[in-house]
Amino acid sequence: MEKRELLYEGKAKQIYATDNSEIVWVEYKDSATAFNGEKKSEIAGKGKLNNQITSLLFSKLAQENIPSHFIEMLSDREQLVKKVSIIPLEVVVRNTAAGSFSKRTGIKEGQPLKKALTEFYYKDDELGDPLLTEDHIEELELASKEDVAILKEKAQEINTVLTSFFKELDIRLIDFKLEFGKTPNGDILLADEISPDTCRLWDAATNEKLDKDVFRRDLGSLTDAYEKILAKLEGIQHA
Ligand code: C5P
Repeated sequence: MEKRELLYEGKAKQIYATDNSEIVWVEYKDSATAFNGEKKSEIAGKGKLNNQITSLLFSKLAQENIPSHFIEMLSDREQLVKKVSIIPLEVVVRNTAAGSFSKRTGIKEGQPLKKALTEFYYKDDELGDPLLTEDHIEELELASKEDVAILKEKAQEINTVLTSFFKELDIRLIDFKLEFGKTPNGDILLADEISPDTCRLWDAATNEKLDKDVFRRDLGSLTDAYEKILAKLEGIQHA
């Protein structure tokens, strides 16, 4: 497979074309951003860790019959993935109150929720990724009602698999964000990444934060936290 021109550069990844029009080449960067890009830093090793963690989690989901755009990890920083057209929605699942949910509702961070909640945010940097209702999604024509139902169902299914998987590693999956794309034949496919950049992961014994909140809230070394997650995931893989 040949790497061709840069198609898109996001905050954490670059996407390149390949000689196959159905496949793109992803390169994970070391940039860390938070609060819609207001807080920025270069953190050596972060790209590599997120690439490895995402590759392991997408492989785990595939074993559980949950397909994604992931094809293979090429190197420390690089992956091949299926080209999809990204639906401009961030799909967030919450098991425990934290972050913007706690701010919005006053429910204290750390309080388990009665059931896993699904939320949709509009992927739009200029608007600051606002929370959307299902009526808003319909009005803006971001996805059909049927597609929204599929996104919810897939997100909940992924939550079930990931929650029990992380539990085996003594990690609590507090919440996470997913992105989905459409394949050329119209199927909805899990895309983007699943990593400590996009999940809240707490040590089940100590509640130590092992995710991007370490960066957002200046809690210590981000790479130490992400390395702990990777080591646990690799431990299971090699067990
Ligand atoms: O900030 P908030 O509490 O809404 O985040 C919920 C979850 O979604 C967290 O795991 C966070 O890391 C993730 N998220 C993300 N990208 C965003 C917003 C939130 O990965 N743009």
